[in-house]
Amino acid sequence: MQVTIKTPAEQASMREAGRLAADVLDMIGPYVVAGVTTDELNERCHNYIVDVQRAIPAPLNYRGFPKSICTSVNHVVCHGIPSDRRLKQGDIINLDITVIKDGWHGDTSRMFTIGKVNPAVQRLVDVTREAMWTGIRQVRPGARIGDIGAAIQTMIDPLHLSIVREYCGHGIGRIFHEDPQILHYRQRDPGVELAPGMTFTVEPMINAGKRDVKLLADGWTVVTKDHSLSAQWEHTVLVTDSGYEVLTLSAAER
Ligand code: MF3
Ligand code: CO
Ligand code: CO
Repeated sequence: MQVTIKTPAEQASMREAGRLAADVLDMIGPYVVAGVTTDELNERCHNYIVDVQRAIPAPLNYRGFPKSICTSVNHVVCHGIPSDRRLKQGDIINLDITVIKDGWHGDTSRMFTIGKVNPAVQRLVDVTREAMWTGIRQVRPGARIGDIGAAIQTMIDPLHLSIVREYCGHGIGRIFHEDPQILHYRQRDPGVELAPGMTFTVEPMINAGKRDVKLLADGWTVVTKDHSLSAQWEHTVLVTDSGYEVLTLSAAER
């Protein structure tokens, strides 16, 4: 496994890419309302990334992905393709943004709720965000990569929700998806030791029903097999000398 350590100058570039990715989510938030299509959200994010940020939307043409962002609605787990589908009251949606700035990637996603959603649905969204933070809080030099997934599983198991296993977090830098893999569940192998200068994502996907997923015929859209709702949150994180720095905080959190 080839894990890259970013120099201070490279960390500054990652910080900038992360900030831009978060800014896209801040920008698009007010438009994520009933009646909008996921294509319209894609178009608005694409134009903002290209024209305002002078950056590149990493998903576009990545291994053949046809759009600039991922839009995963309700039982879609991840990698939903923007389309003419209109959001309606009660829907939940994950918007996953990855930008490339000066050759460096920033990757982050958030959940948005459309109008009133029922309390069990809101709980899934909130618990998934907390699962991401529980993973992130494990990050410090000397900890093991496996500590992240173990902590997430300890948190999720008592809640009778399930953790998706087929997709994981990943190292990130000049390359969109690089080593190491960040699994969101407990494993036998504690994994590699974390060291300052590593950058990776933590992006748990949590299902209201069973953990099993299915890939649709479009080759991208991942859905829950039982059609239960699924939520996901994602940050890009830097390992620092004393712990972690989240590179994709919203402007309000910075
Ligand atoms: N942004 C996703 C991730 O968190 C990857 C999307 S790949 C795409 O790793 F091709 F679907 F865009
Ligand atoms: Co990612
Ligand atoms: Co992402």
